[in-house]
Amino acid sequence: MSNKMWGGRFASGPGAIMEEINASIGFDFRLARQDIEGSKAHVAMLAHTHVLEPGDAQAITKGLDEIAREIEAGSFKFSRALEDIHMNIEGRLAELIGPVAGRLHTARSRNDQVALDFRLWIRDTIDALDEQLLSLQLALAEKALVYAASVMPGFTHLQPAQPVTFGHHLLAYVEMFARDRSRLRDARARLNECPLGAAALAGTSFPIDRAMTTKALGFDRPTANSLDSVADRDFVIETLSAAAICAVHLSRLAEEIVLWATPQFGFAALSDKFSTGSSIMPQKRNPDAAELIRGKAGRIIGALNALMIVMKGLPLAYSKDLQEDKEGTFDALHSLSLCIAAMTGMVSDLTPDLKRMKAAAGLGYSTATDLADWLVRTLKLPFREAHHVTGSLVAIAAAQKKGLEKLSLAEMQTVEPRITKDVFAVLGVENSVRSRISFGGTAPKAVRAQAKRWLKQLQK
Ligand code: ARG
Repeated sequence: MSNKMWGGRFASGPGAIMEEINASIGFDFRLARQDIEGSKAHVAMLAHTHVLEPGDAQAITKGLDEIAREIEAGSFKFSRALEDIHMNIEGRLAELIGPVAGRLHTARSRNDQVALDFRLWIRDTIDALDEQLLSLQLALAEKALVYAASVMPGFTHLQPAQPVTFGHHLLAYVEMFARDRSRLRDARARLNECPLGAAALAGTSFPIDRAMTTKALGFDRPTANSLDSVADRDFVIETLSAAAICAVHLSRLAEEIVLWATPQFGFAALSDKFSTGSSIMPQKRNPDAAELIRGKAGRIIGALNALMIVMKGLPLAYSKDLQEDKEGTFDALHSLSLCIAAMTGMVSDLTPDLKRMKAAAGLGYSTATDLADWLVRTLKLPFREAHHVTGSLVAIAAAQKKGLEKLSLAEMQTVEPRITKDVFAVLGVENSVRSRISFGGTAPKAVRAQAKRWLKQLQK
């Protein structure tokens, strides 16, 4: 049997493999809600512009509502022979209300229909991700306020660099996730144009009212070029790109949690809720959720790459290649949502070991810069000279396997005779962080103020 929807010029239906490669219902069933929403707006507009009889429009709307209920209840039977969500819904509509169902597709094509559905879906998904990222930021900022003065090592090259506070470290991620939210918002603002009415590629000869559907579906304006409306997917690429950057941020935090949870670092522990055991090594507590967040960044970045490669060679307007925009996107944005939820749980669950963090903060001569700064401030040495003097003192301390603060004043004066006992005041890690009062710096007072600013802003 030839296809009910487009088989007029065909004597027989597609071969089995043709059907298999062609069908998208296995994944685009996820667009059902948006497809019905779009169809209802379309049919209301067709009635308003007298393209459809009011009675026909009513019958169609009633049928669509019934289908929405069936899908919600799980009783809707999806059929691969009907290819995709659009034809599955239209096919069921015909069963419910008869041949008048065929009028729904007046002045429309699956090309503008799918472009519409996917925009609506992406828009909903961006809104949900934004909410989730807000919760993650709140969890981080709340912890940051609690640990605004807790000292930990700050690293460069993963070597101890200068002491920072744990609160400061956590707020770094609040900033990153704020930019991720802003990127998603930007993508949302740009995608919020209604492609419905572009029809197959050239627009339509029916007297449609695009402003009406635009408004009904919550878009800012109709798209201005029918070819572009059905042919481009940059709104998906932008969203995936924002998602990929966000996944990279999540992955970096996940990697740090993995490190912190090792006995070697011992900076923080996850409770049983976020740890897993090993089936062979009874002692193990593994941070699997953090590892999976790190791992899933790969598939999210992969989805972005895949879609860019799908798009790069396509002539205008629609080609079936565009159907490949969905699976990777569904998977990537679902994965991102899962990662944000797991990260939010882990952040709330995380208990830092403040003693170990503080002890580690003093390792590796992390207050050497404070000593050099003291030499500049107190003895008026040029920074380069102070750097050199400090380097010599570090070498002496290292040779004796002890910290800078353990050198005697006499030992220090062998390198720079003008050093006084006041220098010891800047050598402790607490002193070090307290002195970093520049805007955006790690001084507990500054961190507390930043955490409070974020909490106020996020709770608005
Ligand atoms: N399932 C198709 C897609 O996802 C819908 C559009 C089909 N259009 C067409 N001309 N065959 O892209």
